[in-house]
Amino acid sequence: MTVQIDHALEEIRRFRPSPEFAAQAVAGEELYESARADRLGFWAEQARELLTWQKPFTRTLDWSNPPFAKWFDDGELNVAENCLDRHVEAGLGDRVAIHFEGEPGDSRDITYAELTDEVKRAANMLEGLGIGEGDRVAIYLPMIPEAIVSMLAVARIGAIHSVVFGGFSSDSLASRIDDAEAKLVITADGGYRKGRVFPLKPTVDEAIAKSAGSIENVLVVRRTGNEVDVVDGRDHWWHDTVAEASGEHAAKPFNAEHPLFILYTSGTTGKPKGVVHSSGGYLTQAAFTHKNVFDLHPETDVYWCTADVGWITGHSYVVYGPLANGATQVVYEGTPDTPHPGRWWEIVEKYQVSILYTAPTAIRSFMKLGRQIPHQFNLRSLRLLGSVGEPINPEAWIWYRHVIGGGSIPVVDTWWQTETGAIMISALPGVTDLKPGSAQVAVPGVSIDILTDDGTPVEGEEGGLLVVTEPWPSMLRGIWGDPERFKETYWEKFGDRYFAGDGARRDEDGDIWLLGRVDDVMNVSGHRLSTAEIESSLVAHPWTAEAAVVGASDETTGQAVVAFVILKASQAAHGDDVAAASEELRKHVATQIGAIARPRQVFIVNELPKTRSGKIMRRLLRDLAEGRQIGDTTTLADTSIMQIISEQVK
Ligand code: PRX
Repeated sequence: MTVQIDHALEEIRRFRPSPEFAAQAVAGEELYESARADRLGFWAEQARELLTWQKPFTRTLDWSNPPFAKWFDDGELNVAENCLDRHVEAGLGDRVAIHFEGEPGDSRDITYAELTDEVKRAANMLEGLGIGEGDRVAIYLPMIPEAIVSMLAVARIGAIHSVVFGGFSSDSLASRIDDAEAKLVITADGGYRKGRVFPLKPTVDEAIAKSAGSIENVLVVRRTGNEVDVVDGRDHWWHDTVAEASGEHAAKPFNAEHPLFILYTSGTTGKPKGVVHSSGGYLTQAAFTHKNVFDLHPETDVYWCTADVGWITGHSYVVYGPLANGATQVVYEGTPDTPHPGRWWEIVEKYQVSILYTAPTAIRSFMKLGRQIPHQFNLRSLRLLGSVGEPINPEAWIWYRHVIGGGSIPVVDTWWQTETGAIMISALPGVTDLKPGSAQVAVPGVSIDILTDDGTPVEGEEGGLLVVTEPWPSMLRGIWGDPERFKETYWEKFGDRYFAGDGARRDEDGDIWLLGRVDDVMNVSGHRLSTAEIESSLVAHPWTAEAAVVGASDETTGQAVVAFVILKASQAAHGDDVAAASEELRKHVATQIGAIARPRQVFIVNELPKTRSGKIMRRLLRDLAEGRQIGDTTTLADTSIMQIISEQVK
């Protein structure tokens, strides 16, 4: 019986686009054809069609010095103008750019004309604070319109933003401020989360006190009205300053290769890396994928990407892609379940959202709560669903399509990374037969392959390492201040092919299935965390002698952080309140890095499994954390160790 059901499921797990959808789809088969015929010509055409260039480019790609690519590099544009002014000039000023929904229920519609005006004022305000071309500005804000205004204002004047997710700690903020030598922080008094005010300004004050001193000014948006300390001469209220600023601001052109932003992400070492993105190439691919993968009809669609602007998804698919395309979108400040578990679906109904882009972890949480919650709302406006951040298991895909999408609309699973800047692998709705669980095919103009460890392409359906074999417009241009690390991390393994750090395989139809990270990077609720970074945080605690961290699979969050810690003899001697020690260490990580990094479990142990050369065997710890039979222990220096650790963990 089970076999039959499985078989039946297998069979229905191909979904051809409906003829009605295909007939109206923005993207057709011809995109693949023209990209195959002339890849660079294809990207040049996209760049010209989708963007407005103050100085047209004549060169498409310069790859003479790999891995340092230059795209459209004799062209000039202004990214903010592309997202704003040109739409107003085209007569779309009255179109809503942002339907803002605050967590407490306040809401505000902002048209393209209004957003343009605000960004111009903010650009003047930044220039008034001495910010100019190439200067770095840290942005530490909740999901409020000012976050988007700030990013665009920074871009407009050719400065470089570094958005730091509001959930990160003062230490994390300080290290990002220092690495980029930011001159200004834009923050808020606080934001709303889970029905409460979370203060941001005190964290900024702490971060500045810890940092090396590059910050000259702080701009503070008033959002929650909680008391904040104001440092005379350094801190300025956004509303006071913006009110004084002029609404006239000409958008100067910048070179296509001018850096647009730095975004820090976790790698295999303890130190987050500042991924650098450019202007012209980045915006081209963000706009191209946003239009074609999400089948955007900007006159009629209401688009909603639930990501925070603190992550790359928020950069490319809340700010740059949608606004470059003149889309109308929803921006929601809070959590999905505040004040009630149907909040997201209420928002879909209220704004008649037609395109929804979210993460599998969210879908799985909704699955747990049950379909009766979304069923209380009218979700019939939805016509396309997207997924990002981690593999979406077929069950969640089916649930998403049926319960949220009413059973017949496309679901696109999009694979990409902070480093790739924009979507790289995805179905094109209207073209591709959809297959739950697979991210499917490279988007037109992107070249993907799967290699064995020695760099030969994998034949057949075996798993291997995912690479991008040709440069792409939105590729990272480097790691801020560390060209060596850039080369080492991505380009050393396979020459001038980009090593993504993910495992993947192709099935018999040539569809790509992502198999998770092959390095020490974890994926918790679609957020990237480094085992090394959490280990160094644990070791920084005075009680810790040694620590090992693994990502264990978790039903809701994809992976969860599980730590194994050996306490110092002095601490261990204080008695055996293991639960208290473990709680203290969990809290410590949350304070040092941010709540997203808080381990699900911290096990206090006496030993860690090590090879004869002293390397910790995380594989065995992962077996333990996932409750599996412990794998091969023959390479351990002491083969009885796992037995002892298992006893302790119990
Ligand atoms: O492991 C892949 C996973 O997320 C990693 C990138 O994380 P980040 O830079 O934070 O960007 C997340 C949002 C683009 C990848 O190396 N990942 C992302 N999307 C998918 C995915 N894994 C499987 N399927 C996806 N659709």
